[in-house]
Order: sequence, then C-alpha cells, then structure tokens
Amino acid sequence: MVLDYKIRVFTALVFFTVLGTAWVRQPVQKKRNLKVLPQDISDEMLDSIMHSFNKALGVECNFCHVPAKGFKDSLDYASDDEPMKEEARKMMTMVIDINKKYFWYDKKQRPEYLKTVTCMHCHRGEPYPEVNH
Ligand code: HEC
Ligand code: HEC
Repeated sequence: MVLDYKIRVFTALVFFTVLGTAWVRQPVQKKRNLKVLPQDISDEMLDSIMHSFNKALGVECNFCHVPAKGFKDSLDYASDDEPMKEEARKMMTMVIDINKKYFWYDKKQRPEYLKTVTCMHCHRGEPYPEVNH
C-alpha cells in the first residue's frame, strides 16, 4: 500500500515536471514593434523589405536602427530611438497609400507588399533624392 502510494506520488511528480517543462519551453514569439507592416509578417518578407530599403537608399541597416546596448556589432531593430526610423515609417505609409489609391491591384494582395511604386523609384540609391535639372 505504502509502495503503491509512493509510486503514485512519483508518477504525479514526473507528470507535472514534464508538463511544466513543456509549458516553459513553448516558443515565446516576441511581439514585434510594427506600426506600418502587418504584425503577422513572415521573417522572410520582413528581411526582404528591409534589404530593399538599404538598396533603394544606398545605406546600411544602422541608418534607421540604433546599436544594441551591450552587444558589439549588433542592432536593436525593435527600438525606435533612431529618429530616421519614424521618418521611414512616414515614407512607407506614403508608398502604401500611393499603390493602394492610385494604381490597380489584386485585392487578394496585401497593400503593404505592393511594388508598383517603390522606394527605389524616387531614391535610386540616395537617402536624400534630388531632381537632376
Ligand atoms: C530606411 C530605414 C530602414 C532601414 C535602412 C532598415 N530598416 Fe528595419 N525597420 C525600419 C522601420 C521603419 C521598421 C518598423 C516598421 C513598422 O513600424 O511597421 C523596421 C523594422 C525592422 C525589424 C522589426 C523589428 C521588431 O520590431 O521586431 C527588423 C528585424 C528590421 N527592421 C531589420 C532591418 C535590417 C536587418 C536592416 C538592414 C538589412 C534594416 N532593418 C534596415 C526601417 C529601416
Ligand atoms: C515619391 C518619391 C519618394 C518615394 C516613393 C520614397 N521617398 Fe523617401 N524621400 C523622398 C524625398 C524627395 C526625400 C528627401 C526629402 C528632403 O530632402 O527633405 C526623401 C527622404 C527620405 C528619408 C530621409 C528622411 C526624411 O524624411 O527626409 C528616408 C528615411 C526615406 N526617404 C525613406 C524612404 C523609404 C523607406 C521609402 C520606401 C518605403 C521611400 N523613402 C520612398 C521621396 C520619396
């Protein structure tokens, strides 16, 4: 009887330990700090859009993203401390509006991902594009 009780307690302990570990190890998907792009954006799409910004403006990621505190050579992408990031958000909103309002698009597509007009159309590798008179 005593042995049976011990086995049950032991089984219960193992059970709850496994359950607890599984709970803790749930992948914690950190919420992204996105105000213009969709929250459910894939990593690949986000990466491709960010690289298109580098190319269009002729800059590196640190043009809009501040260095991560305490980590050499890495950036804190979620931080809004670099004011240029907010400027870029305005530009993104403008481009999405242009594509949505003034051009035909397949309504199954996300307006945020349209490429009829892109940053490159104006910037052409310059952060501050000017008109060539
Ligand atoms: C021209 C400015 C600009 C450049 C250059 C840029 N980014 Fe961004 N990035 C932004 C903006 C703006 C957002 C936030 C978008 C939003 O609010 O929807 C963002 C968001 C991100 C995020 C999401 C962070 C989070 O909240 O989880 C990642 C990751 C990121 N950028 C990576 C990069 C990488 C990598 C590069 C270089 C290849 C890069 N960015 C270059 C402007 C820029
Ligand atoms: C319709 C043309 C046009 C498009 C499209 C465009 N930009 Fe710009 N952008 C400009 C001009 C012009 C300037 C320079 C403004 C100035 O000199 O004051 C500029 C400046 C900027 C700046 C510098 C900050 C500022 O506000 O002056 C950033 C960052 C920027 N653009 C990001 C982007 C990104 C990212 C995209 C694509 C999502 C984009 N732009 C698309 C015309 C455009």
